[in-house]
Amino acid sequence: MEKERVRRVLERLRDLRILVIGDLILDRYLYGKVERISPEAPVPVVEVEKEEVRPGGAGNVSANLADLGVETFITGVIGKDPAGERILELLKSKGIKPLLVTDSRPTTQKTRIVSLSQQLLRIDREERTPVGGKALEELVEVIRECDFDGVIVSDYAKGVIVGGLMDLLREKGLFFSVDPRPVNRELYRGASLMTPNEKELKAMTDPLSKEGVEERGLKLKESLELETLVVTRGPRGMSLFREGIKHFPARAKEVYDVTGAGDTVIAVLTAVYLAEGDWDIACEMANLCAGIVVGELGTATVTPEEILRELEV
Ligand SMILES: Nc1ncnc2c1ncn2[C@@H]1O[C@H](COP(=O)(O)OP(=O)(O)OP(=O)(O)O)[C@@H](O)[C@H]1O
Ligand SMILES: [Mg+2]
Repeated sequence: MEKERVRRVLERLRDLRILVIGDLILDRYLYGKVERISPEAPVPVVEVEKEEVRPGGAGNVSANLADLGVETFITGVIGKDPAGERILELLKSKGIKPLLVTDSRPTTQKTRIVSLSQQLLRIDREERTPVGGKALEELVEVIRECDFDGVIVSDYAKGVIVGGLMDLLREKGLFFSVDPRPVNRELYRGASLMTPNEKELKAMTDPLSKEGVEERGLKLKESLELETLVVTRGPRGMSLFREGIKHFPARAKEVYDVTGAGDTVIAVLTAVYLAEGDWDIACEMANLCAGIVVGELGTATVTPEEILRELEV
């Protein structure tokens, strides 16, 4: 990729307004040392030395967009609790515009306990029933009233993404991309872009058949009437399904931490396509950005400066 071209693309991203809709998660990491076994039960005692919180799920997609320079809005559901307040603060501090709805459910939280880079335990708090009632009405209002260049649906199957919201996106004729959860397959009909990984692709087509990625991709794209399908393939990069199929190799990298690469991919693909109308450059930049994210420990987003620096090496 030519550096001057990328610089121009990055400048255009600043004119975009994108809404993320989806499941917000408070990701919490407790780091500490283990020096003894508990006298109460045969388990290690972790002495906490450091705590980190990050916006996860749809929040991480919005953080990726904001760090690219896109004017970023997010809607989803939080509970009336400190974790919900925390998510709100974190989003605002990153320059994201939150249009969140509060509900009687608790805010989704995932707490990891880590010692010597090893995860010892994860504690989840969540309620996954589909949203309804007043919360759903408020989500509908957000989508109905505002004017965006496009929408990213970040579905973690925690209840925010329901048929009524997806119908509204189709009705408004909005460009919308989807990072799917296979259980909600039918909700995504007519998406402008879908970005499953290989495992999700397999689950959304006949999981028992021996078909490869190409056959499965073509079938999924046709059966859900997707405009564009991009299958992410970990170290093998990604495959773009439009009229034909095109493969984009990953940037060779030493890999430290693959979590969140999928969030970076959908943010970059959507933003670059909306700015440029060109899927090839969108895929190339998505691979580049995902490569940066997987090559660093604990980094979940990429800035224009990092992208330009990466093109120098
Ligand atoms: N080992 C790797 N080496 C280089 N690039 C990688 C590697 N793993 C992932 N990537 C990059 O990240 C992109 C997304 O990775 P992957 O297909 O694993 O998504 P995912 O399973 O949705 O990730 P997530 O865990 O965030 O949900 C790939 O298309 C590629 O560009
Ligand atoms: Mg994923």
